[in-house]
Amino acid sequence: MLKMRQTAALALFALAGGAQAGQPVWISIGDQAYQQLRKLDAGVKSQQSRQLAADGRLAKGAAGETVHVVQVDEALLPKLSDAIHENLRHCGGYIVHGNQQEARAALNGAAAPLAKALAPSYAIDNQAAVNKLLPQLQDSNILGTIQSLSNYQNRFYTTSHGVNASNWIAAQWKQLAGSRTDVTVEQFAHASWPQKSVILTIKGTDNSAETIVLGGHLDSTIGSGTGESSRAPGADDDASGVASLTEVVRVLLASNYQPRRTIKFMAYAAEEVGLRGSADIAKRFKQQQANVVGALQLDMTNYQGDAQDIFLFTDYTNAAQNTFLANLAKAYLPSLKVGYSQCGYACSDHASWTAQGYAASFPFESSFNNSNPYIHSRNDTLANSDSQAKHALKFSQLALAYAVELGSDGPAKALR
Ligand code: BES
Ligand code: ZN
Repeated sequence: MLKMRQTAALALFALAGGAQAGQPVWISIGDQAYQQLRKLDAGVKSQQSRQLAADGRLAKGAAGETVHVVQVDEALLPKLSDAIHENLRHCGGYIVHGNQQEARAALNGAAAPLAKALAPSYAIDNQAAVNKLLPQLQDSNILGTIQSLSNYQNRFYTTSHGVNASNWIAAQWKQLAGSRTDVTVEQFAHASWPQKSVILTIKGTDNSAETIVLGGHLDSTIGSGTGESSRAPGADDDASGVASLTEVVRVLLASNYQPRRTIKFMAYAAEEVGLRGSADIAKRFKQQQANVVGALQLDMTNYQGDAQDIFLFTDYTNAAQNTFLANLAKAYLPSLKVGYSQCGYACSDHASWTAQGYAASFPFESSFNNSNPYIHSRNDTLANSDSQAKHALKFSQLALAYAVELGSDGPAKALR
């Protein structure tokens, strides 16, 4: 929600502007820096710790260093920075998070022992299949789906319209599945609200235990007061992502493509209220020890805010998979310009997969600062994004290349 984006910005501002004494804050901190902290305040206690090859947004330590989650008095942070600077001769060493949950999620996500263990081959070697399918993707179909989804009064997670929109996506995807027995469409029910997530599965042929996830969120919002009669078209956020994915589904199934790995397309419920639908699903997959080798999130694909076409977000995502996506763009979409940006917080469903230790990526319509200004309002319409859906088509193209290149790999043993 807009609110959360402001909160994240405010938190940064407050820190930059000098902290008020006495506020408890949650941080993640490398072990060496933690020892410095304990000298300043012997009472601090690590709430969770994990050994990792530090990367991404976590407090950077030496590779293999243990990182802790700790609650400290904000007023201590400047002194901690000084101590780290003086005694360890480097800057930073800790990161402030919004709350304990975020700090723990950061720890679990960045540690990503699972993502590392499951790291697939990112070889690009299915030119024939990808190049045959790419020209079949059509912006007119994406346009139609965005139109249909944004025609719902809203798609909020608690309203009748939000429920209906989920049912509509399930019906569309079932139609695309046709009579194929290796394709199933299910609605994933959530315990705490009525809107269901939608999952379409193409079962892999000889490597079906390994799964690839491509997702976007189906809900829309105009903020915390959204209700039955609110108008929240959510054309870009995120009818566009669901529409880009639906067009990939259409082409894969129309061509009778049979992946070796299992491919799952997901339209998540309740993203706008804290990534709740995807969190439920990613947790369930982790519980069941599902072998998810990669997750791709499409959330906002149809508003071009910069000269570059596709921005890969580098936080709460997997660096190796992001490089793979950049290489896919280079190989298959050479006219597209790729940029890099960050949300600075867990801004969409990719973060739910990251939090469970899976490799996730988030190719986005623009840089964070130049993204669609109309989202979360009644003005998030097709007219205020790309009314030809040409921008959204680029994301279908990248997603299709991703699905086919990762989807076509056999079992790891046979591969290596
Ligand atoms: N699509 C947005 C995320 C987004 C917005 C990414 C602008 C990049 C630029 C998503 O639907 C959203 O609104 N997320 C929330 C946070 C979420 C945890 C509720 C947000 O950004 O406030
Ligand atoms: Zn949103």
